[in-house]
Amino acid sequence: MNHQAQRSTVLVTGAAGGLGRAFALGFARRGYDVAAADLNLEGAQETARLAEEEGVQAMATTVDVTSVSSTEAMAREVGDFSGGALGVLINNAAIYATVTRSPMEEIDPEEWDAVMAVNLKGPWLCARACSSLLSEGSSVINLSSATVYSGSENWLHYVASKSGVIGLTRVMAKELGRRGVTVNAIAPGFTLTEASYGLMPDAATYGVDRGAIKRASQPQDIVGAALFLAGQDSDYVTGQTLVVDGGRQF
Ligand code: NAI
Repeated sequence: MNHQAQRSTVLVTGAAGGLGRAFALGFARRGYDVAAADLNLEGAQETARLAEEEGVQAMATTVDVTSVSSTEAMAREVGDFSGGALGVLINNAAIYATVTRSPMEEIDPEEWDAVMAVNLKGPWLCARACSSLLSEGSSVINLSSATVYSGSENWLHYVASKSGVIGLTRVMAKELGRRGVTVNAIAPGFTLTEASYGLMPDAATYGVDRGAIKRASQPQDIVGAALFLAGQDSDYVTGQTLVVDGGRQF
């Protein structure tokens, strides 16, 4: 089994900034070639440029994860780039900072659909499109959220979408496990990215007191978990959701 060849390219969706860029650069530093995909092509291109500075090959592509044709086009491009073998797919693209927070009686049904389309249908469409690129030793990592466990008020659509990601992860783990592909989710707690900063003025100190570890979460904390789930040390870990929140949920 040639792990090196199968694990050499990581595809990150939502890679224009925030956690997506951090995943791309963290994996580049470990020697993975990088495919950066986002609705925001300029941002994805900048991520690819930064990844190349780490000495690996990188490409950028535009994708709308809610679209069958767009995710299929992304998979074709990534397949050409990677020689048809994808080591890691990180389903990171999502919307939350722009999502209206309101009691469930007031959530706009159209906004509900939009949240589900990006956050829940998106990971399915990306995995579906990339399925033929995944083989023994490959990993899929889906981004859930620790809000699933805390049940953040006024965010029913977002929390429901990220809860769905956990079920999706389990089913995919069983189906792709037959081929030796692991599928896991990461549920980050509040982590400092530009998008999350926008949610509250006291972002840097928000919730720190409730954690077992008394500091804010940085993107690097989440990247470390992804590197573990993508690597050979976790080959027998699948269908799991790893909460990375500094111990705020217990
Ligand atoms: P972000 O908003 O910076 O990044 C999301 C990216 O997804 C953006 O670059 C955006 O352009 C892209 N995107 C949105 N819709 C898209 C679409 N239809 N097709 C393709 N790309 C699209 O967010 P951040 O903070 O980096 O979060 C990344 C992931 O981590 C998300 O899944 C989020 O739900 C999850 N998460 C983040 C937490 C945090 O505190 N930052 C906490 C828990 C989970």
